[in-house]
Amino acid sequence: MRIDPWASAQFADYGRLLEEFGIERFEGFELPRPQRLFRRGVVFGHRGFGLIHDSIVNKRPFAILTGLMPSGDMHLGHKMVLDQVMYFHSLGAEVFIAVADIESYATRGVSLERGREIAISQYISSYIALGLRREGCQIYFQSGRREVKDLALLLGRRVNLSAMRAIYGMDDSTNMAHLLSPLVQAGDILHVQLKKYGGPRPTLVPVGVDQDPHIRLSRDIAFAHRLCNVTAARDGRVGVFVKAEEGVEDLLALAEGVAGAAGFRGLRRIPAYRALYIDDATPADVPALDRAMLLEEAGRSPHIFFQPSSTYHRFITGLTGEKMSSSRPETAIFLSDPPEEAARKVMRARTGGAVSVEEQRRVGGRPEECSVYELLLYHLVEDDAELDRIYRSCRSGERLCGACKKEAAELVRRFLVDFQERRAAVGSSWKEYVAEDG
Ligand code: TRP
Ligand code: SF4
Repeated sequence: MRIDPWASAQFADYGRLLEEFGIERFEGFELPRPQRLFRRGVVFGHRGFGLIHDSIVNKRPFAILTGLMPSGDMHLGHKMVLDQVMYFHSLGAEVFIAVADIESYATRGVSLERGREIAISQYISSYIALGLRREGCQIYFQSGRREVKDLALLLGRRVNLSAMRAIYGMDDSTNMAHLLSPLVQAGDILHVQLKKYGGPRPTLVPVGVDQDPHIRLSRDIAFAHRLCNVTAARDGRVGVFVKAEEGVEDLLALAEGVAGAAGFRGLRRIPAYRALYIDDATPADVPALDRAMLLEEAGRSPHIFFQPSSTYHRFITGLTGEKMSSSRPETAIFLSDPPEEAARKVMRARTGGAVSVEEQRRVGGRPEECSVYELLLYHLVEDDAELDRIYRSCRSGERLCGACKKEAAELVRRFLVDFQERRAAVGSSWKEYVAEDG
């Protein structure tokens, strides 16, 4: 199985994804004031979230980055990533938002001018209307940021064509702009750690699983650029191993300094193995040692990065029961839908109700299979107790689909009326969000 970021297949089998691709289950992290998507298990997986959690707990700087593809109109499915961005922003993350205008051109043929218009009218204005705050937040266009494009070219040194074939299924007919677009995205993800943009620090990229290939690529690239590898062997022995071709002695001395400063005494330098063994360290010491080592390496190379972390959210099912998709308007609630039209879509949505009212009174509904319930859970009902009441009264047969849909439709209508009013008021203030080198 291969994940194709440009296809529109639906991933329903999240368990299999975790196993097959080594995405870790998102559990065991205590978060302050957890946002609804975390409380309700919508965010189900992660890579390297420990680094972010550590930054939150220890109040160390971290960044969050997302990108938007300016091709279709923004719908409720797109809002989920922004909800996460705003949540981590409130916990102190510095926010970067990439307008993927190069990717949109490379993979969908959308011109840069058109991409810019779509980004501003559909996405950026909506983000602001949804409550994205100005401080500590910058939006930029891929085509406008030199460092992103430079990185795309330079990072490519660490990726070969067979990796691109294996990860993305690229072949002889893939156009070169498309072939490069994952590297541009790696540029997005990693450039925030360049000195100019704040230096090396943990960076979170919240995505749907379709974007996981880009995450793996970026993590591999970040790792490949490290000068040293701090790791525990299977027997628990901790060591620093030099990966760089040059300056082995210098880096081993650096490692010795780092380990010494951290209070370790059992240091054995073995230049023939390019290794420094730290006999009194345990595997639990590795993250802190690695972090200290990374920051030292950054003084010797401009391309030292923390491996980016990611979270994965479930996709909301389309209103018709298939995938929510921009190309089939009946499946999604678009933020630009006339509110009455959106309410009608909800009234026509597929539910988890029984074939007749009598039957439903008797056996109850199935909220787990209901696109209306999903809408309530992902977007419309903030209060957990209220959501729980809805769930239980649906299961018991007390709640019937007609009335339930009406309620949801009214919530959607009111949300859109209010949202669209706020979006109209954004006017040209979006400019304040776009960075100078945006
Ligand atoms: N490829 C992403 C999409 O299709 C857009 C994107 C570009 C992105 N750069 C990014 C997403 C960086 C996350 C991080 O939606
Ligand atoms: Fe869905 Fe509501 Fe019907 Fe339950 S009662 S199946 S939640 S529409």
